[in-house]
Amino acid sequence: VEVEVNDSLMRFFDHCAKFVALVEENNAAMCQVDAFKEGPEMKNVLEKVASALCLPVEELNADLVQVAFLTCSYELAIKNVTSPWCSLFSEEDAKVLEYLNDLKQYWKRGYGYDINSRSSCILFQDIFQHLDKAVEESKR
Ligand SMILES: *[C@@H]1O[C@H](CO)[C@@H](O)[C@H](O)[C@H]1NC(C)=O
Ligand SMILES: *[C@@H]1O[C@H](CO)[C@@H](O)[C@H](O)[C@H]1NC(C)=O
Repeated sequence: VEVEVNDSLMRFFDHCAKFVALVEENNAAMCQVDAFKEGPEMKNVLEKVASALCLPVEELNADLVQVAFLTCSYELAIKNVTSPWCSLFSEEDAKVLEYLNDLKQYWKRGYGYDINSRSSCILFQDIFQHLDKAVEESKR
């Protein structure tokens, strides 16, 4: 079976002008996420990671640490391999970084803004059209 990649369906949010304007390109939309990145929990994680890497803490930021954590997570999830990046984080740090990602997904893809779910309308329309077609065909 040929796999058809159709980003206009699967990345429906990228093609929704209202979502792009109100969420994607609106710096204020992620203010809760930005506040958590600057908060005491993340500060603590940044200091521990900087210390483990023998780096001045000013050279790190929440985004860089999140990339290291995602690299660890994906290698474990996809390859069942414990990446060297994992050694930078304690279980407590992992909970902080998972919370940061949950918070981001809440505001960017989840319940945070109404347009996040409404922008999926085109995908669901396509799914239901295919289901209706399959029902018609099986009746025949
Ligand atoms: C992808 O899906 C959209 C919406 O159903 C459709 O208009 C478009 O033609 C599709 N693109 C491709 C390359 O199949
Ligand atoms: C993942 O790796 C661990 C440790 O090497 C092993 O015990 C476990 O069976 C592996 N799990 C899977 C699903 O391959």
